[in-house]
Amino acid sequence: MLESKYIQGIIAKAKQLNKTVVLPEGEDHRILEAAHYCADNQIAKLIVLGDVEAIKAEFAARGWSLNNIELVDPSKSPRLQEYTDLLYNLRKEKGLTAEEAAKLVLVPNYFGTLMIKSGHADAMVSGANHSTADTVRPALQIIKSSCKDRGVSSVFVEVCNGKPYYLADCAINMYPEPKELADIALQTAMTAVQFGDKPKVAMLSYSTYGSGKGESVDKVREAAKLAKAMLETPEFSGCGIELDGEIQADAALDMTVGNKKAPGSNVAGQANVLIFPNIDAGNIACKLLQRLGGAEAYGPMLQGLNAPVNDLSRGALVEDIIGLIAMTVLQSHK
Ligand SMILES: CC(C)(COP(=O)(O)OP(=O)(O)OC[C@H]1O[C@@H](n2cnc3c(N)ncnc32)[C@H](O)[C@@H]1OP(=O)(O)O)[C@@H](O)C(=O)NCCC(=O)NCCS
Repeated sequence: MLESKYIQGIIAKAKQLNKTVVLPEGEDHRILEAAHYCADNQIAKLIVLGDVEAIKAEFAARGWSLNNIELVDPSKSPRLQEYTDLLYNLRKEKGLTAEEAAKLVLVPNYFGTLMIKSGHADAMVSGANHSTADTVRPALQIIKSSCKDRGVSSVFVEVCNGKPYYLADCAINMYPEPKELADIALQTAMTAVQFGDKPKVAMLSYSTYGSGKGESVDKVREAAKLAKAMLETPEFSGCGIELDGEIQADAALDMTVGNKKAPGSNVAGQANVLIFPNIDAGNIACKLLQRLGGAEAYGPMLQGLNAPVNDLSRGALVEDIIGLIAMTVLQSHK
């Protein structure tokens, strides 16, 4: 998988950025192998959380160097009290007690997130052994959205026939309202820009330009209208984003169908950013593309956080983890 030109390009860019990524799941052999590869190939510096002696033993047994890798056992960290106090202060108004903070800080996803908040790491990749909710909740609570009017969303990058597609929201926002859907569309477009692609955004539906009727068609059409208005604002104008909808997936992706169903569209037949009306459609499409279409799948990556925290699928292979670490490095570059 790492052979695709797309991911090789991402890795080459990541190597120039010298970022530090925390990996909270040091008990997982796939994580250790990915950490070794990334450190050895200077994709990032890694902080691996877990049982330091056990990890050292595994590295020694495999003949791997620990250069560019720091091992931290949260329960023995000299920064434990500092992180506990930070967590307590950040969450006491939400009802967290000092005793609860002392327990929660030892949960590796919280410890890793607090490392980022304290400036001791740039980003985190987790989820090989945790649900999406358990991986992203500490980030939502501690790292927080970078924009007060906009939530955090997620994107999968899927490489099909060598071409990257950005699919959202497949993992966080379940049933977004039009304004949220418009935000998701533009966050995803900006992720494509960050990864070096020119975004052509399709607001997907079972209807193209009113060919079908229904509540969710109205929702997607309203979201497209709001997103187009946002494209005129200083934040997004000049970013080269093109957007259209509501539009069906075949019209968005196939030029012949696009010309027939959406003549004159600047997106039809060329879409590379695919925005789904809800999490069911998005998540199912991602899995189908990967399992039946043979796409390389990276993510879900969070968008709109103050610092990147990204989630792995529990079925992730070592190369998926390496790819996601490289993408996370790119996201952490402001
Ligand atoms: C993301 C998710 C985990 C949050 O769940 P939760 O912890 O029960 O949600 P809560 O409403 O208690 O929110 C926890 C915090 O996150 C914040 N938050 C939740 N969703 C957010 C979003 N989209 N953007 C920004 N912040 C968000 C809340 O404001 C809250 O912050 P606070 O405690 O400081 O007030 C939930 O939306 C979810 O489960 N999504 C689907 C995950 C999933 O199963 N995906 C499919 C598999 S890939």
